[in-house]
Amino acid sequence: MEALKRFFPYFRYLKYVWGRFALGLIFGVLFSLSSGLGLPIMAETVFPILFGNTENAPKWLCRIVETYFANDVSGGFLLLCSFGIPATILIRVLSGWANGYYMNYAGISVVQQLQKDVFSKIQDIPFAFFKKSQTGEIIASVLNYPNEIRRVVVDMSNDIIKQPLTLIAAVSFLIYKSFTSESFSMAFIGVLTVPILIFPIRQIAKYLSKRSKQLVAVGETLNSLVIETVQSPMEVRAFNLEKRQKARFSQLLDTFFTFTIKSVRSSLMISPSIEFISSVGFGIALYLGVKNGMQQEEFFALFIALYMAYGPIKRLGQMHGLLRQLEGPLTRLESILNFEDNLKAGVKSKAIVKEIPDKIEGEIEFVNVSFSYEKGEAVFENLNFKIEKGKVFALSGKSGVGKSTLVNLILRFYEPTRGHILLDGENLAHFDPKEIRQKIAYVPQMPLLFNDSLMENIRIGNPNASDRDVIKAAKEANALEFIENSPNGFATIIGEKGSTLSGGQRQRIAIARALLKDSPILIFDEATSALDENNRDVFYEWIKKCKDKSIIIIDHTKSAQDFPREWINLKF
Ligand SMILES: Nc1ncnc2c1ncn2[C@@H]1O[C@H](COP(=O)(O)OP(=O)(O)OP(=O)(O)O)[C@@H](O)[C@H]1O
Ligand SMILES: [Mg+2]
Repeated sequence: MEALKRFFPYFRYLKYVWGRFALGLIFGVLFSLSSGLGLPIMAETVFPILFGNTENAPKWLCRIVETYFANDVSGGFLLLCSFGIPATILIRVLSGWANGYYMNYAGISVVQQLQKDVFSKIQDIPFAFFKKSQTGEIIASVLNYPNEIRRVVVDMSNDIIKQPLTLIAAVSFLIYKSFTSESFSMAFIGVLTVPILIFPIRQIAKYLSKRSKQLVAVGETLNSLVIETVQSPMEVRAFNLEKRQKARFSQLLDTFFTFTIKSVRSSLMISPSIEFISSVGFGIALYLGVKNGMQQEEFFALFIALYMAYGPIKRLGQMHGLLRQLEGPLTRLESILNFEDNLKAGVKSKAIVKEIPDKIEGEIEFVNVSFSYEKGEAVFENLNFKIEKGKVFALSGKSGVGKSTLVNLILRFYEPTRGHILLDGENLAHFDPKEIRQKIAYVPQMPLLFNDSLMENIRIGNPNASDRDVIKAAKEANALEFIENSPNGFATIIGEKGSTLSGGQRQRIAIARALLKDSPILIFDEATSALDENNRDVFYEWIKKCKDKSIIIIDHTKSAQDFPREWINLKF
């Protein structure tokens, strides 16, 4: 039960499809009825009449044959009965089909709703999460693990209700009978071996849970390895890593195989152990029952009740095993869906959220700001400076000194460990991070382009911009010439991560994107590192023309150092 409880929150995903899910369950029942009862009932009731064995046939049926068919079973009645067989089978196949269809419908829908939730959670999750997680883990959490949850929520739903009910019915019958007959109650002692079953089931399930966590970890590392290799084919070949990657891959696969097969071995042990222990109980019941003068009919009743009880126990045992086996994927999903923001990124408390004004000056001030990614390892301490409106603020300093980190704080990717940052005199933490980012055009150190046209890649800066504005921004970023020389001009698709462009071209697209955004604050984190001198000069010419924006430039080149504006050299 404990194991199932963890899955409860996921049952709410059924709410979108509960109608179809219920239909699926109903058709499932119809299917079992028509297969389990339809033909056997016909065999028991109708066939005796057809073959002239009227004593064994039920009276009501004889009467029907008498009244409507004048006791003639070779005519209309035979025809009706012969068609009864395909009719029953038709109900069986149709309800089987409908059951499959509606259950799959509900299942796929649950998976997709869950996938949407996980995916959108990932969009809002603080960066601290990505630092802790491998890509493989995130991909598996979005694409694979929701499918595992479906196995419990949809596929097992039938059994969750049916099996305990059957078990309770059988056990109640046994208890009732043992109160009414002494020999039966003696035999019932044999049945008391049943609780022993709990021990092997629990032991196996615990083992499965452990294996499941290991399997998840290995599976994710495998994912990450594939992604890494596919994403950086050049690095892999340039450093002759092919052999190493192959070896790592097959080694991981071997580990995965070992864990899987161990897990299979254990889960397959659940049914046999239940069967064996229950047969021992049955033997004891037989022995004690007969010794105490049990009658044959009583023994058959006991036999049937026990048989009915063992079925559900076996199924529940398997279910318990499966639940524990799914704990690995479940834990992963929970780690995303319940991720608490311990770096305090995002909005701290609703009470202090202020609307960011439409028009902002763009004055940024650092007041005693200290920051560390890991506890105790400060990137910088007590930083105090001010970036005034209309000023260009150039940051330089040794690699790894914390320049990009400083920018990350302004964008509120992270929060200062101490002190605060003011935007137009108001604490940045009081604003919604999304709104702050709306006011900032940011070109990161490694800009990401999407597998889309050049036009759309620039338009990301401002989705409402017209084609003309995009072209203007491209011109200002000195990107127009190479775009026009591309095979399809602005419509050229640039491949994943802009892989068909040169480093400098990629940077110019990213700059154009930022210029198009037309925000009061601009941040360029080594945005010109891959540009030639001519391109860089064009960029700085544009910067010089900006009179009403606050601009932060991180740049080591001479062009930046010659720049006649405010200058801060970050040194620690
Ligand atoms: N996500 C992170 N988690 C932990 N430490 C980090 C993280 N990002 C950066 N660091 C560390 O913080 C320090 C500052 O990094 P940052 O990227 O700000 O340097 P930088 O001045 O921009 O360097 P560069 O000129 O090479 O771009 C470095 O020592 C780096 O190792
Ligand atoms: Mg940097």
